[in-house]
Amino acid sequence: MQEVFECIFRNGLIPVLTVSDLTGIETYGRFFSLAGFGCLEVTLRTREAAQAIRILKNNFPGLTVGAGTVLNVDEGKKALDAGSDFLVSPGFTVGVLEFCSRNSIPYIPGVQTPVEIQTALEYGFNVLKFFPCEAAGGIRTLKALGAPFHSVGFIPTGGINKENMKNYLALDQVFALGGSFVVPSGTEIVENFGENLLEAGSLRKAVNSFFIEQVKVMGEDFFYNSMAESGFGKIMKILDLEKESFEECFRSRGCISSGFSNSEKGGDVKGEVILSCLNLERAGAVLKKEGFDFSRKKESGSGGFYLEIICSGWVFRIIRKINGDCHYQKV
Ligand code: 3PG
Repeated sequence: MQEVFECIFRNGLIPVLTVSDLTGIETYGRFFSLAGFGCLEVTLRTREAAQAIRILKNNFPGLTVGAGTVLNVDEGKKALDAGSDFLVSPGFTVGVLEFCSRNSIPYIPGVQTPVEIQTALEYGFNVLKFFPCEAAGGIRTLKALGAPFHSVGFIPTGGINKENMKNYLALDQVFALGGSFVVPSGTEIVENFGENLLEAGSLRKAVNSFFIEQVKVMGEDFFYNSMAESGFGKIMKILDLEKESFEECFRSRGCISSGFSNSEKGGDVKGEVILSCLNLERAGAVLKKEGFDFSRKKESGSGGFYLEIICSGWVFRIIRKINGDCHYQKV
């Protein structure tokens, strides 16, 4: 069960797909795999839904596929028979809660009120869909619910779009987002596959919004020599930072520094890259999955944390950006 939730958290965005024509389902599977999404949800709102889940699971084993709009136990069972990795509901019934709890099925019940949240918690579920998010007060309501229910990870769904997604992802209580806005229509995906793929890829990258804030080096020679070092390019790729070349970053946001007083690595470190992202926990989950050894450090005085990776004489420090300002994240 844990693995499914780790995958959803790492991805941060669940595309919500409603399938009424099975001919295009493999195209969707290829599309979301190529765009770098590790999970998606197929709503049980059409007759084709269960078969769509089966096709996706058979042909794209790397995708974590959930069934959405699960309204009762029977529907949940059918979705599980088709190969669903997890179930999602717009609300919940005690029947579905009991069934999923008894059988250890990864389940995301839908909630909107404190009573519903408490009920879901009582059955052991603490990753909850907040639905319909925007209509139920959006960020304001989520913040208010997050205070008493700090152990809950919310998945706001309903009204999420590319304009508001980053505001949600910057909230501590947001575990991931769900939305159909990531899913092009069947016609669009066929006619403009490449263009739509670029758009979907950039939405996926926006989940973390990794950005190089500053590059510091002891000497320019070190900068040019170590760009060729192994491991360095891999970090850039994982953090989706290949768009702007590192050399361009150095020219615009680089500086020569006499030392790195904050680093304990002393003489071994000759360069430092300060990166920002929307959520440190998620950044850590992404790095962990890729096998990176990072440490979580407390910044003296600020009361917050940053992540640090050491690679080829460089220190990468990842901090959190909120409303355009960089912050050490309190965790
Ligand atoms: C769902 O089933 O989860 C919602 O209908 C998705 O909502 P959206 O279309 O506003 O993203």
